[in-house]
This record gives sequence, C-alpha cells and structure tokens, in this order.
Amino acid sequence: AIERHYIWEVSYQYKSLDCCKKLAIAINGLTPGPTISAVHGDTIVVDVINNLLMENVAIHWHGIRQRGTPWSDGADGVTQCAIMPGETYRYTFVADRAGTYMYHSHYGMQKEAGLYGMINVSLPLGVSEPFNYDFDRGIILSDWYHHTSYEQATGLSSIPFEWIGEPQSLLINGRGNYNCSGLAPSVCNSTNPQCSPSTLTVISGKTYRLRLASLTSLSSLSFQIEDHEMTVVEADGHYVEPFVTKNLYIYSGETYSVLVTANKDPSRNYWTSINVVARKPKTPNGLAIFNYYPNHFHEFPPTNPPPGPLWNDIQSQMNQSLTIKARQGFIVSPPKKSDRVIVLLNTQNKINGYVRWSLNNVSHSLPSTPYLIALRDNMTDVFDPTPPPEDYDSENYDIYSVSNNTNANSSTSIYRLQFNSTVDIILQNANSMRANCSEVHPWHLHGHDFWVLGYGEGKFNSSRDIEKYNLVDPIMKNTVPLHPYGWTALRFQADNPGVWLFHCHIEAHLFLGMLVVFESGVEKVGIIPMSNYGCGKTKSLIKRSFDN
Ligand code: C2O
Ligand code: CU
Repeated sequence: AIERHYIWEVSYQYKSLDCCKKLAIAINGLTPGPTISAVHGDTIVVDVINNLLMENVAIHWHGIRQRGTPWSDGADGVTQCAIMPGETYRYTFVADRAGTYMYHSHYGMQKEAGLYGMINVSLPLGVSEPFNYDFDRGIILSDWYHHTSYEQATGLSSIPFEWIGEPQSLLINGRGNYNCSGLAPSVCNSTNPQCSPSTLTVISGKTYRLRLASLTSLSSLSFQIEDHEMTVVEADGHYVEPFVTKNLYIYSGETYSVLVTANKDPSRNYWTSINVVARKPKTPNGLAIFNYYPNHFHEFPPTNPPPGPLWNDIQSQMNQSLTIKARQGFIVSPPKKSDRVIVLLNTQNKINGYVRWSLNNVSHSLPSTPYLIALRDNMTDVFDPTPPPEDYDSENYDIYSVSNNTNANSSTSIYRLQFNSTVDIILQNANSMRANCSEVHPWHLHGHDFWVLGYGEGKFNSSRDIEKYNLVDPIMKNTVPLHPYGWTALRFQADNPGVWLFHCHIEAHLFLGMLVVFESGVEKVGIIPMSNYGCGKTKSLIKRSFDN
C-alpha cells in the first residue's frame, strides 16, 4: 500500500458541456473532476484548495467508509466546517475495499454545478476478480441544468415555491448535446469540441468492464449499449451474482460494474445511451459512441439510438432491484435479528408555507456547528437533544393520497445508535403533494454499507413483510432506491464511530431537509483535526487552542 497525494484547485470556469455555455465547478480545470485510481489499502491524501472566490466547499468520498477518519467524510455541517474561499483543507483516508466509488461536493447544491468524479479502487496485486475482462473503463452519468445552483436554491427556498424542473441535458462523461437552434453561437454552439460526444473505443472480441457511477442531481436513468448485452457484476463495491441485461437502471449515488463483450459487426459504431426513468422525461436521451476500432471514433452509428425502456415501467425497475443479490462465495451474512427498527415515512410537506421534504413529518435542518465536533467535544445547545420519531402513524396514514397534514416540523435532532448494535431501516414511500404522484428517492448512507433485505409495493406490513426478508444472500450497498408507493428494508451494523448522514441523493430533496443523522460510538472518535473547526460554536475553540 502506498500514499497517493492529490492537489486539487477548485474553481468556477465557463464550460460548454452540452454545447451551452455555463459556469461549472472544475477541479484543476476539469468538469467532471479527475478520477482517483488507487489500490486496496492505499492511503489517499487530497489537498483541496478552494478558489471558488465567493463560496465554501466540502467534498464527500461517497462509498468510502472512513473507518478511523470520520472527520474526512466531507459532509458540511455534520463532520466539518466547510472550506472557506482561499483556504486549503487536507482529506486523508484509506481505500479499504476494492470497488467503484465516487466523490462529490457536499455543500449547498454544488454537486449540480459539476463538482464530482469517480474513485476506482483495484484489488491488491496477486488477487483477482471472480470474473474476467480485458480492459477497465469508467463512465460518469449525470444530468445538467442551464440555471445555476444559486438560481435553483433560491427558487426552492422561496414563496411561491419554484421547482427546478427537468434537466436540460444528460451527460455521459461530462458530454451532452443540447439543441442549439435559435440560440446565439456565443451561448450555444453545437460545433464546440467540448460537447462532441464521448466515445468508448473497443477492439472486436475483447471484454470491457464498464464502471458506471450516477451523479445525477435529479434523474433516475436507464443505461444501455445498442445491440449489446451486459453482465452486471458489481454494485457499490460488492460483487453481484451475475445477471445479463439489455439495460441497467441506475439511481443517483449508485455505482455498478458491467461486463460488455465487443462481439457485434465491427464494421460500424453503436450508440451508448441513457434515458430518464421513473419521472416523466422532458430531457432528451444522453448519447455517446461505442466505437469499434478502427472505425473513426466520431462516426455516427447508421441506426437511430435505442429509445430505452418506458419511463413509467415501475415494475421492471422494481424487478431489477429484486434481482440484485450478493455473489455466491462472497456473501457476508447479515445478523439474523436487529436491535432496533426505525421506520421513515418519506413525504413532501410545507413549513410555514415553504415546501420541504420530511421523514416522519420532520424536515432536517443542519446546525451551524458540525455534529461530530459538538458531540466529540461535549458542546451543548448545538442541536435539539430530543430524539426524532422512530415511526409514523402507520395505522391511519394513507400513502396513496395527498396528506391532509401538510405541515411538517423542522428540527436538528439526531438518532443516537448504540455502538455495534444492529439497526433496521424501513423506508416508506407515499404520495407527494400532487395527486397520483410518488417519486423515487435514492437513499445513501455515509460510513457504512447496509444489507438490502427487501423491497415491496404499498405500505410495509411488519407481520407479513419481515417473513420475506432475504437473510440468505442480500447484497450490501451504500445507496438504494425507494420506489414510488413502495418500501425498502435495510439492515446495518452501527460499528463505525462517528456521525453519519443518511439521505436522499436527489440534490433538491437533500437541500430541503430529506436527511437524517446517525451518531454512534462518538466517544471512540480520535482527535479531530483543527482544520475541521472554525464555524458556529467551534470558532471559540480555535481561539483557545491558539491561546494556550
Ligand atoms: Cu453521495 Cu451524502 O452523498
Ligand atoms: Cu428524494
């Protein structure tokens, strides 16, 4: 194992990722940012220089559990004070498991401005994967808006509420193609090389491992390669019992590896495409070129891009979720019982006229002092100490209609989990504030992986549904969808000392309170670096440390 040192300068730059000029956040000039490639056991050190001039930044290493380094998790307001303009902050953590991960901003709605990238951790030398391939390629999937994250954040927090709407483009490895007709070439120019489609060049007969990471702000996607089947082998860093599919559903915050063999007519190119599912799409498909060498890599395929599956085929999206199991020979068995069950009803509500998203009618608001520091240093008065609700009124709540109790509370309270206890989470979906509408919520847990025990339609019923839990070969993941009007059941062990976010990965939902915070074993946390301090009540502590 070695130490890999990165120096990243984060700044705003004009980019034309989908041919339209927009301010994007770049790392060392790149949007998406550079890929971190490491070997299992390596220590990764990233010095982040904030050159955004007028805003803070914090970067989360999504899928990295941060065992022993909870202060490096990069969650603004939870684990650290965000990095101020002009400042440099050092993240240090160990890549302690091979697999495909990602990183992205965890400050405000910055993820939407393009601050994200991929982390690929390979097995140590001499250890091989339980599948074969010739080459390994990373593919970042994202959606793209023409409004800035400032305009969006302002609209979301205004009365009347202004929804961000559907994205203008879908991007594959940071490239999309907006229809520029009618727009001035200085604004939108389809001949700009920045938006020429991304290409994946393959050699006939070879097998490719494609590492897919979804960093969308809103969209759930289906990924496919025209005429080619894929074998799914990895999800969120865990081996999947292989299955073959024509298209892969992927939700924001998820990663997958699929194997694709270039075994079709090599005299032409094929389309790689993504399309929006689970909400009515207004965004054209994202396209890239699956290029058979030696055809020219920009030669368009002679066929129309595949349309992809119907957006509202919720059943086939649910079926994929149910198909994903741990690979035989690599099964980590979950504890047979849990010590605690937390049920989280996902709703859209209002607080004093402002639209929010809530769990059990509580919409979270982050305090100005990070929880990790407040708890580790025994500060009081930072957050509301009353525990948040463990359940909702499941007897009487109708998940299929617009709730008549539209008002929620806002709170800073957190769930304190006994160290090493086993916790079950039941995510329960419901109707939003619009009739006949229930949205997908991809839920992501920081600091841990969980076992996915089950999914179902309708209201979770403990006497009926617990029986059906998969305790035999459940996949472990860090991000999982909650399907419309459905439920998802998870189990995890609270064995990582720290304070950890659990939230919907849709940027606007997170921004409007769709998160909970788990604390466990905080007394076991080591010395938090001074560079994590500096905001809220931790300001005075910095001063004290200089005084003595
Ligand atoms: Cu990828 Cu807290 O998120
Ligand atoms: Cu959500």
